[in-house]
Amino acid sequence: MSTPSLTLFHSPASPFVRKVMVLLHETGQLDRVALHTVALSPVNPSAELNADNPAGKIPALRLEDGSVLHDSRVILDYLDHQHVGEPLIPRDGTARWRRLTLASLADAILDAAVLTRYETFLRPEEKRWDGWLAAQKDKIERALAYFEQDAAAELACHFDIAAIGVACALGYLDLRQPELGWRDRYPRLAAWYAEVSQRPSMQATQPT
Ligand code: BEZ
Repeated sequence: MSTPSLTLFHSPASPFVRKVMVLLHETGQLDRVALHTVALSPVNPSAELNADNPAGKIPALRLEDGSVLHDSRVILDYLDHQHVGEPLIPRDGTARWRRLTLASLADAILDAAVLTRYETFLRPEEKRWDGWLAAQKDKIERALAYFEQDAAAELACHFDIAAIGVACALGYLDLRQPELGWRDRYPRLAAWYAEVSQRPSMQATQPT
């Protein structure tokens, strides 16, 4: 095993970090990366991370020359150019824009679910805003309905950038919003997720 030359600022519960970890597994690059775990929240930042990423967000990836990449989309793109297997982000053509758009919609689920987590876990109860929470839930439902009705077959074609994003989004909903019961309303997604969640990359990166 070679010495890791990259450092990933990491938290085991972050679904954005999980996307990067899944890609590292899928592309055989795990041993290139040392994990540096940071405990942080929007109101409890990490000074060390802020020095490398002014946005104060994980994941961030420090390269061998000391430069730092963020956010998860940039890191995924970088890592996908660093292996010799089939790219997980199509390099060109309509497939590129379609798969990146599906990945972006998966990120929208994650943004809404993480904001919901902050609102319900971090924000003092008397300051919570139910209408705002409902709007996040609506966004998640719209995105799930789109994947169910318009993209289930496409997701099943290839475990690539789009599929990794959706799988990590569904895993995060299971972790933080089990009461959502998304499987009842989205049976095709549920069947697909049951299969892809058995992949070694998904099993090895289950959030804790
Ligand atoms: C979480 O614990 O839900 C979480 C952790 C890091 C980033 C985003 C969410």
